[in-house]
This record gives sequence, structure tokens and C-alpha cells, in this order.
Amino acid sequence: MKIAFSKPSLPTEGAIVAGVLEGKALGATARALDEAAGGGLSRAVAASRFEGKKGQSLTILAPAGLDVSRVVLIGLGKAKDMDALAAQAFGGAAVAQLLTSGETGAVLAVDPVEGAPLPETEFAAQAGFGARLRSYRFDKYMTKRKKEDKPSLKRLTVATADAAGAKTFFAVLDKVADGVVLTRDVVSEPANVIHPESLAEVAEGLKDLGVEVEVLGEKQMRKLGMGSLLGVGQGSERESRLVVMRWNGSADKDCAPVAFVGKGVTFDSGGISIKPGAGMEEMKWDMAGAGAVIGAMAAIAGRKAKVNAVGVVGLVENMPSGTAQRPGDVVTSMSGQTIEVINTDAEGRLVLADALWYTQDRFKPRFMVDLATLTGAIVISLGHEYAGLFASDDTLAKRLDAAGKAVGEQLWRLPMGEAYDKQIKSDIADMKNVGGREGGSITAAQFLKRFTNDVAWAHLDIAGMAWSSKDTATCPKGATAFGVRLLDRLVADYCEDKAGQ
Ligand code: BES
Ligand code: MN
Ligand code: ZN
Repeated sequence: MKIAFSKPSLPTEGAIVAGVLEGKALGATARALDEAAGGGLSRAVAASRFEGKKGQSLTILAPAGLDVSRVVLIGLGKAKDMDALAAQAFGGAAVAQLLTSGETGAVLAVDPVEGAPLPETEFAAQAGFGARLRSYRFDKYMTKRKKEDKPSLKRLTVATADAAGAKTFFAVLDKVADGVVLTRDVVSEPANVIHPESLAEVAEGLKDLGVEVEVLGEKQMRKLGMGSLLGVGQGSERESRLVVMRWNGSADKDCAPVAFVGKGVTFDSGGISIKPGAGMEEMKWDMAGAGAVIGAMAAIAGRKAKVNAVGVVGLVENMPSGTAQRPGDVVTSMSGQTIEVINTDAEGRLVLADALWYTQDRFKPRFMVDLATLTGAIVISLGHEYAGLFASDDTLAKRLDAAGKAVGEQLWRLPMGEAYDKQIKSDIADMKNVGGREGGSITAAQFLKRFTNDVAWAHLDIAGMAWSSKDTATCPKGATAFGVRLLDRLVADYCEDKAGQ
């Protein structure tokens, strides 16, 4: 679907989408349409339960007196709540109504609204962003879909007073959307298509954006002493990979980078501690942390952010086989610390242990943020509303929280501490890889912290957020790309040259 911007004008064909404020207050465009339709729209509104509340919509087909084939009224809620997320939801709702409606073109009217916190031009750009995000489809394997189920909408024109300004603003958001789409694509792909080698190849594609990409194979990782990561992949036919992506966008080439680290388990069968069959197919998206880091790097490079950023993803497939690691095995990590592998299904932390250590050791970053679908326990704690946030640095935690709020990817901070750390003491090695059922997400974070070497660090447990079982305002059900917008925003607000340091 193509998104364009134009000056306000009433279309003579296709669909027109217009906003209505809570309390049935028609916006300027809806009022103009209503007038042309001899009051037909207000009569339709009066006859319905549509009140202009957020999330509501009302479609009027073939309205008498108008040339358009349909008018879609979308509830904007209250003027004071019309922020960037509301704008995205507005654009998303338009697409949800029209994508498979049979319409091929639509105009999305953005009207001036008194008391709205966001300038109209930005509102229009954000609406376009939301529309693009909501139009995402992963349907390449659907060969027999009925015509009426296929997307029909090809063009969405956002009509707004300063169309040129909105277009300029949108161009930046469009790069972020590129990152989101890349992440959703790799997370959606099945594990026979996306495995460590092929995911590394996707990351290598970022070279086109000016990102330096290095791919380390098993031999190199063995040389570096990454026994923890390699142990997870040793049961798989696929070779493990570690991918390093570097974007040098700061004017100061020597400025210490920010670093993002991702768990990339391209399939998590549990290994010898094999998972139950029901739902195991979901573990194709156990690389969503790595996917988000790759997408965030694409966004940051795509919009040429003035920052030095490093993305490191540990890519492995966790399989049971004659060569797989066993419960009870002891592995030595790159840090030199030894780990007793009690449960081969607690593999993400084993991958991140070496990826985190490598990242701080090689790049001496300002801070590290890792993203991982790490524990089922975080889904029990927070459900599908917040990702878990763990941090050794309060400023970083606050900034992540603020960035998450701004983009609608919410985080909830959980505690850490010595008492939890004790739970991963081992009788035979420096630590064990599980700490019991109690506080399972926290002991996982404690484990990771041991590999951060006291660099400012935060860990996002995104197990409950990487995949959505239902459509949301800006995301159809499936892979969400949680973390891409958040990391991009963290960089934009706090890490770029001249930003708040
Ligand atoms: N990838 C899983 C965590 C997960 C569970 C992600 C559900 C998304 C949805 C992780 O590798 C795992 O298996 N964790 C175990 C840890 C346990 C063995 C200590 C878990 O959460 O059960
Ligand atoms: Mn697992
Ligand atoms: Zn896993």
C-alpha cells in the first residue's frame, strides 16, 4: 500500500475517511461531507451507536449526494488525547476498515482540532505511519486465498493543510516502519526458513543502509571461548552465528557506542529438556529479540541517526539430538565463568551470556540493552501488556520507560538483588542456568547481569510481547516487532549528537 500526502479536497471517487470527536462532534471534513450529502451523515450517526469514541467507527456506503463510494467515520476520542499514538490508531483504524473492503484508493482527512496536543502536520504523518504499520501482512505462503480476502487497498492519501511538511515528517517515520516490517517478516518466518545462517544473511542485508556487518561462525566463536552460546547450538544441524552490526552515525567517530543485544534462538524445542508438543510451534519466534535488534539497527541507519550504535545478535537453534548438550553439563563462557546447565530449555540466557560479554569486552559501550523472549514466567507476571524491564542503571531504566511510553511499547520494571542472585548458586560450577520456579524472570535477569561486567545495562524480557494473538490498533495479529520503535526512540531522544547527552 502506497501512502501519499495532499492538500485537503473532497475526493470524487473511492473512500473517504474522516475523524469525529467524542460526543459526535464531526470534524471539518465530515461536516463538509454532511452538508454535501444533505445531512445524510449526521442522520446516519444519529441512527447508530457511534459516538466518536476511540476505537469506534461507522461506515456509510454509497452516501446519497456524494461521489465517493463510502464514508468511513472514525472516533478520535477527546481532543486533549490526540497525541502521536492516537494519530497512529486513527490511520490504523482506517486501514483496518478498508484494506480488504474492495476499495483500491482512499483519502484520510486530517482536520485541524482545537486543543489537540500534537500539531496537525505531525498528526497527519503519524496517521500515515499507523496506516502503514496496520497494513502489514505476512501472506506469502497463502496460495489459495479467495479474492474477497485479499487486500484491495493500494493507495492511501493523507489530506492535510501542510501536506509537504507532513510528507517530510513521514519520511523519517517511514524508515522506522521499514525496520518494523523487516522484524515482523523474520519473526513470522517458520524455522525451516529462518535459521541461524539465513537470519545472519538478512542482517547482512543492512549493508545496503551503510551498516557494517560481521558474521562470526562457530570456529571463530570457539576461539573466543563462547562455550555457553555454542553449547546451545551443538545439537542442531545448523551452525550457530554471532552477528555484529555497526552504525557509525555520530560526528565523533570515537564516541563510545550504544549497544543492543538480541536473543536469536531460531527454534527453541527445549533441547534434551524438551518442551511439551502443544504450542511448540510458537518457538519459531524465539528469535524476536534478535529480530528487534536487526530491525532497530535498520531503522536507526535508515533515518541516518547521529549516533554510534552496535547491534549484536546470538543466533542458535536449540534442538535435541545425539550431539545436544545434556542437563548437568558444565560449560565455560567467554567471561571465564562456568555454568552448570540444569535445564537445556533455559537456553536464551546461555546465548546472551556470551553475546553480552563479547559486546562489552569489544565495544566498551555507553550502555547495553538486551531484548529476549527469555521466560514464560514474565508472561505469567505481566501478560501481554508490558515487557519486563530489569536494569543495573536507573537512568537507563527511566529513559527506556519513557521511550516505551512514547511509542506505545510499555515496560514494567521488576526488582533485582542479591537474594535472587543466590538462587542460581551451583554445587559444581560458578552458577547454574535455572533458579527454580519462584521469580523465574528475575533469576534469569540475575544470570544475565553476571555477564555485563558492570556496564550500564538493561534487559527487556519480551516473551509476552513479541507475538500478538489479536489485531491491535497498529498491528495485525502475529509478530509485533516489539522493541524496534522503542530502541529507535531511545536513540532519538537520548543518544544522538546534541540529544540529552
Ligand atoms: N523461549 C522460552 C521462553 C518463552 C516461553 C518465550 C513462552 C515465549 C513464550 C525460554 O527459552 C524458556 O524455555 N524458558 C523456560 C525457562 C525455564 C526452563 C527455567 C521457561 O520459561 O519455562
Ligand atoms: Mn527455552
Ligand atoms: Zn527460548
